Amino acid sequence: MVRARIVGTGHCLPEKVLTNVDLEGLMDTTDEWIRQRTGILQRHIAAPNEAASDLAAKACARALENARVAPEEVEFIHCATATPDYFMPSAACLTQKKIGARRAGACDLNAACSGFVYALQAADALIRAGVHKTALVVGAEIMTARLDWTKRDTAVLFGDGAGAVVLKAEDGDRGVLSTYTAADGGAYDILMVPAGGSAQVITPENINELNRGILMNGRELYKRAVYAFGDAVEQALTRASVGVEDINLFVPHQANGRMLETVANHIGLSPDKIYLNVDRVANTSAASIPIALDQANAEGRLKQGDLVLLAAFGAGLTWGSALVRW
Ligand SMILES: CC(C)(COP(=O)(O)OP(=O)(O)OC[C@H]1O[C@@H](n2cnc3c(N)ncnc32)[C@H](O)[C@@H]1OP(=O)(O)O)[C@@H](O)C(=O)NCCC(=O)NCCS
Repeated sequence: MVRARIVGTGHCLPEKVLTNVDLEGLMDTTDEWIRQRTGILQRHIAAPNEAASDLAAKACARALENARVAPEEVEFIHCATATPDYFMPSAACLTQKKIGARRAGACDLNAACSGFVYALQAADALIRAGVHKTALVVGAEIMTARLDWTKRDTAVLFGDGAGAVVLKAEDGDRGVLSTYTAADGGAYDILMVPAGGSAQVITPENINELNRGILMNGRELYKRAVYAFGDAVEQALTRASVGVEDINLFVPHQANGRMLETVANHIGLSPDKIYLNVDRVANTSAASIPIALDQANAEGRLKQGDLVLLAAFGAGLTWGSALVRW
């Protein structure tokens, strides 16, 4: 049976680090408030001349090197991002140029923080259908480009970065075993960037009145996220006919450490089986899972044959999951 196997991982974080203590100097917040409610201690911030595709290209190049796959072998680049360089062309096309993957098709997918599991589902299906043999799935975000630094409720939560995996068609038991995606557009307005798209076009006259930063109802999101993570995990396990006790490592979207502890508790997973890096990188949206995967891989936490569970939740609302045999 042909499966899509993850044969390489890579990530890229911008050089500049902004700690909670640095934020104390920029807004009315404290390290203690942020740490207690989210588990975040610091985040990486892109330089003014760094765009999503710059980080994506570095993450992809590192994943290809890790997989020992040449850029020319890549047939498709799936780029999950809510913060592309431009409205068009896609960040995927710019990434294709930067890494020299000249044979690859390329496009972006926006499912906000769930983007990586959505893109992984598409890449897996295309590989199993025989359309592609080698693909890159990358999540890349410059979340700080969408932050209003006067809004302390959102500004402290997000960071920038990119992570990528190389998928290859392979016979055998290893690879993506199940995927699941879900959405509830009825709750579109509890996490959104209202202005700058076609619904609220920015003009010289209205630029100061419109809200161009992330707007969020944190408490409502928290409740829905705990439910959605539970549903995503249950679906991934049921679709692959495995139990929670079979999971070796849970690599979730890193929105909030406290939230993930609650989720682990609900699903009956021991906390030492969750990979957490939210303390170091904060919420990097679609880049979150592949950054964590690459760090877990580099730390030797992913062994051949391990069952790895991925799950995410984000604006849309969207949520989803994947189960992978490493
Ligand atoms: C945002 C979040 C951490 C807030 O935690 P919370 O427990 O709901 O917050 P609390 O109710 O304890 O505190 C709210 C108070 O803190 C204040 N506050 C908000 N941000 C603050 C900050 N950075 N520093 C200090 N105080 C802050 C608020 O103004 C509010 O004050 P008030 O009660 O006087 O109005 C939490 O709701 C959350 O994580 N939600 C999900 C967010 C998320 O994951 N988004 C991305 C999804 S992909």
